[in-house]
Amino acid sequence: MADAHFRLENSWAPIEGDDGGGFVFTLVNLSDAPISGFTLAYTSLTRVKDQPACGNARFLRRNANFHQFAPLDGFVLEPGAAWQFSVKGLWRPARHRTDGAKSAYLTLADGTHVDVAVDDLMLAGRHSEPAPRLLPEGKVTEPFALLPYPAEAQLQAGETFPVAFYPADGTSLDDQKAMQAVGALYRRLFSVGHAPFALGSVHEGRALKFVADTTLPKETYRLDFGSDITLTYGDAAGRAYGLTALAQLLHGARLEPQTFAFPASGFINDTPRYGWRGCHLDVSRQFYPVADITRLIDILAWLRLNVFHWHLTDDEAWRLEIKAYPTLTTLGVLRGPDEPMLPQLGNGAQPVGGFYTQEDVKAIVAHAASLHVEVVPEIDIPGHSTATLTALPDLVDGQEAPDSYRSVQGYPNNALNPAIEETYVFLGKVLDEMVELFPSKLIHIGGDEVAANTWMASPLARKLMEKEGIEGTFGLQSHFMKRIQGMLAERGRKLAGWDEVSHGGGVDPAGTLLMAWQKPEVGIELAREGYDVVMTPGQAYYLDMVQATEWQEPGASWAGTVPPQHTYTYEAVGEFPEELKPRMRGVQACIWSEHFLNRDYFNHLVFPRLGAIAEAAWTPKDRKDWLRFAAIAPLVPKL
Ligand code: ACM
Repeated sequence: MADAHFRLENSWAPIEGDDGGGFVFTLVNLSDAPISGFTLAYTSLTRVKDQPACGNARFLRRNANFHQFAPLDGFVLEPGAAWQFSVKGLWRPARHRTDGAKSAYLTLADGTHVDVAVDDLMLAGRHSEPAPRLLPEGKVTEPFALLPYPAEAQLQAGETFPVAFYPADGTSLDDQKAMQAVGALYRRLFSVGHAPFALGSVHEGRALKFVADTTLPKETYRLDFGSDITLTYGDAAGRAYGLTALAQLLHGARLEPQTFAFPASGFINDTPRYGWRGCHLDVSRQFYPVADITRLIDILAWLRLNVFHWHLTDDEAWRLEIKAYPTLTTLGVLRGPDEPMLPQLGNGAQPVGGFYTQEDVKAIVAHAASLHVEVVPEIDIPGHSTATLTALPDLVDGQEAPDSYRSVQGYPNNALNPAIEETYVFLGKVLDEMVELFPSKLIHIGGDEVAANTWMASPLARKLMEKEGIEGTFGLQSHFMKRIQGMLAERGRKLAGWDEVSHGGGVDPAGTLLMAWQKPEVGIELAREGYDVVMTPGQAYYLDMVQATEWQEPGASWAGTVPPQHTYTYEAVGEFPEELKPRMRGVQACIWSEHFLNRDYFNHLVFPRLGAIAEAAWTPKDRKDWLRFAAIAPLVPKL
């Protein structure tokens, strides 16, 4: 980008008697010309209330994270000069440097839009500190670089390590293909690492024998180390995991021989703790190109995670091509000053979009399947649907007052209406296309964060409530969800959703899987109600949360501060009564992307905590070891 002609400084200070504190903004004119008659827009997750108190500015409007202000009448901003204004009346205090403006632009008097450079939020009136080291120096008692660590292992370290593994004489075509696949995975993740596998015999290499044993449970493998190596497996996933473990052992021994070794003898007997070892990615708030998605799936496979939960839609964008409704991925993705959807979460003067074609999706699903990763797609309904309703305005009850309710993120009237028959026609066609794209038995339909008074100003919703004897927002939500569950059943699929799907009467729990995100106790309650549960509590497994309390550490903090050690040691099954434990299907990382303006933010926040969740998902509690994890986690590849 060319040098910025304008820059916006922002700082936050506490205010006595006002929990939210206040912002001070300073716009500097770095151009060679004076400007007047302009407005300033910025996006910030620390939102202002409807009537903020401004000093030296006029508040024009807010929509979710989008804010717009103007200077007082007649103001001229000369080259080299600054316009400073203050804003009080924030919904919550800023806690970290990423809580301020994420992007900004000016709309000049002639209607053109100009980007404004913006950077970290400064802290005024308090001490601003960087976080202490987030991952301590690691320490291993057994020198083996396995992550997740195996359920059982008795290994003796060797003095040297093999150059590469090669198939023993008589190895089947299938087993050779599996070596090739894990070798290719390694190569994609470590482009300069020495190849762990070769398909012909290698001088100073070690022969690998394969034994198929169908009596072994799913995803299970055994490795026996000696002058050659035997990999015994029950299924293709177990075989891939055994090969991945070999590649990890070799990679660690090569890269850090002072810490790690390759086993000369002994065995690994390994099986996962949980069947559901998930990682979610929000591609609505920020768009991730196909290459990023396939790389993330590669990383999941390396960590033996087996579910990729793909959050494809939200208020900010609908990212999945649906041929029956092309406007979903035209009007429903583009954000810009003159687009139907306003800039949010880091967008500026230039319109931004991005979506996945059905060909992209097929390629991603096939890639994941080849690595034993199941793709569970999510369309987030009925709430979180601003993009959908922008693309398909006919789905709105025309008599419902605008701005009659707002989501927790500040979007007005953002839910699909359960009383409009066309809502179900639309969703039926969407599901028809989704079941062709996604083989997963589960389709995630969201269900989270429908605001408390949603639909109460919709005459059509009121009529439906009266006719069916339905009570309130959550009664309507349950009515809607039950219909969706029926539509999924007609298509041979089961319902997955966030924990609020159980509200207002919920759905039939049989075969339904809900994700407990709000707090751990919710998971136990869901299990008691008969739902299968995956634990994704924000307080441990939301990877957008900050990792330390210090101001200079980036990230969100509404669910608290989540240091890597907490993510690692947290036991999701914690308080589950014995009889409910079988309903706890596993654990999942959630990567919400509001704060992830670039790859470095992503990597800073996702790692090492993704590896911590992978170990929580795989390794038995009594085999977990924080300092060992700290030693091995830096070897995990990043995006
Ligand atoms: C969620 O974090 N709204 C599932």
